[in-house]
Amino acid sequence: MGKNAIVFGATSGIGKELAKLLVEDGYKVVITGRREEKLKEIQKDNSNNYVIKKHDVTELDSSEKVFKELIDELKTIDLVVYSSGMAEPNYDLEWKKENLTLQTNVLGAVKIYGLAYNFFKQQGFGHLVGISSVAGIRGNRHVPAYFASKAFQNNYLESLWMKAKRSKADIYVTDIAPGFVDTKLALGDTFGMASLDKATKQIYSAIKRKKKKVYITKRWSAIALMMRILPASLIMKT
Ligand SMILES: NC(=O)c1ccc[n+]([C@@H]2O[C@H](COP(=O)([O-])OP(=O)(O)OC[C@H]3O[C@@H](n4cnc5c(N)ncnc54)[C@H](OP(=O)(O)O)[C@@H]3O)[C@@H](O)[C@H]2O)c1
Repeated sequence: MGKNAIVFGATSGIGKELAKLLVEDGYKVVITGRREEKLKEIQKDNSNNYVIKKHDVTELDSSEKVFKELIDELKTIDLVVYSSGMAEPNYDLEWKKENLTLQTNVLGAVKIYGLAYNFFKQQGFGHLVGISSVAGIRGNRHVPAYFASKAFQNNYLESLWMKAKRSKADIYVTDIAPGFVDTKLALGDTFGMASLDKATKQIYSAIKRKKKKVYITKRWSAIALMMRILPASLIMKT
């Protein structure tokens, strides 16, 4: 039987590119996001292997509905990737911006992580992948909710990894922590920006190896080590 994957946040960027690699590898891939026209465009390339689902991850009840529909349709799910995410500079701590970031990167994520994990437990196997960020390592005065939401994702995914290790089911959890990748979320030309192609190939390789946590691209492992020990006064200058 063929393998099935769901990629939440596949209308653009990393999710879109990863879905393409999965399809090329023989997966049937459900792609989701709010922009239906983007989903339709992607599906045109290979209508047999892409299933599209318009979905807003901040609508938590609809996440349950979508997940149930997909289980009914696909019967088994091998891989769930949560790539949905948003980042917006918020110099004046406007509540609307902070709230939307938390709804998308924290509540939306936990809802999908939980639905996937519990389904995998019942099914007896499965692989959950979260796209977090190196942003989870420290704070940032311009984008506080984003950096904090990524720290939340890092710790939540590690908790699920621990849970999976103790579970009788064959469940894997992977935390992908990219540095700067060339997508619209990266907000322009940034230091050490990786091409989307290079980053996504490294992400897929880590997924195939069922890694616990990886930094993307590889050079970010060393940068991440440094970020942990630098004083906040130096981090602030970046
Ligand atoms: N690019 C980077 O430098 C970088 C670095 C570290 C981590 N990341 C992480 O990588 C992930 C993917 O981002 P990207 O760089 O590929 O940026 P992107 O091209 O902007 O992709 C973001 C995806 O999230 C989806 N999304 C946003 N809000 C959503 C909502 N309410 N409901 C459903 N889907 C939603 C978008 O779909 P719709 O707008 O169609 O809903 C889109 O498909 C994010 O979690 C991001 O934090 C990116």
